[in-house]
Amino acid sequence: MIRHYSLSKRSLIVLGTLLFLFLTVVLRPDVSGEDGKKFLADRHQAKGIACSACHKEDPPKAAVSTPVCLGCHGSYARIAEKTLKTEPNPHASHMGNLSCDNCHHAHKGSENQCLSCHQFNFETP
Ligand code: HEC
Ligand code: HEC
Ligand code: HEC
Ligand code: HEC
Repeated sequence: MIRHYSLSKRSLIVLGTLLFLFLTVVLRPDVSGEDGKKFLADRHQAKGIACSACHKEDPPKAAVSTPVCLGCHGSYARIAEKTLKTEPNPHASHMGNLSCDNCHHAHKGSENQCLSCHQFNFETP
């Protein structure tokens, strides 16, 4: 009995390892950004926004500052209005007007700065 139990436990481990390898190595999930979609810069491009609309230097080499983002997205107040239904509003909090890049990244997955202290389940685009 004991021996049988330990065998099946071992085969479970082997199966689990194989499943893990299958999922990560064979299927290779698309890890580009939230919900496996594209990164923020790609999604801007898809709306017809060129590199040069964000990057003022040519060729692009540096990060893009918050005033450039606000040049199109208006003001913090305007963005906060768009996420009014998100509780709590990531764009209107006791943290004030954070730099966009505290949460949004253009060429890698975005993050959620509030997580360093809270457990809000934001999906940052
Ligand atoms: C040239 C104008 C322009 C600039 C500059 C710009 N955006 Fe956008 N952005 C847009 C447009 C247009 C959309 C699509 C419509 C919308 O969601 O407002 C968009 C969409 C977004 C979205 C929603 C994307 C989604 O898939 O849900 C986020 C987040 C965003 N921008 C953040 C930023 C940040 C951060 C910066 C600065 C690094 C930035 N934008 C710079 C025009 C711009
Ligand atoms: C504390 C993190 C954080 C910061 C800082 C932040 N955002 Fe966001 N932003 C989010 C999250 C989270 C969402 C998704 C909210 C939702 O839809 O539930 C979002 C959504 C957006 C959207 C899409 C709104 C829509 O139409 O649904 C835009 C545009 C945007 N952010 C622009 C900006 C810009 C520009 C800045 C800098 C001025 C900025 N954000 C700063 C977290 C942040
Ligand atoms: C929505 C605005 C936006 C668009 C459009 C955009 N970028 Fe960026 N780019 C950024 C931001 C913000 C950073 C800072 C790093 C990050 O957030 O991923 C950056 C960083 C960079 C860097 C510096 C290396 C790094 O990762 O820090 C390069 C090079 C670059 N971008 C190239 C491009 C090229 C080429 C295009 C067009 C195909 C493009 N970018 C389009 C916002 C943008
Ligand atoms: C450096 C730590 C820290 C960060 C980062 C932070 N907070 Fe807080 N937050 C606190 C503290 C401390 C309190 C007050 C104690 C409490 O009520 O939990 C608080 C309280 C709150 C409250 C009111 C209390 C509640 O839970 O309803 C909200 C809403 C809130 N924070 C939202 C945010 C948002 C949105 C962000 C990201 C933009 C954020 N916080 C980032 C530390 C932080």
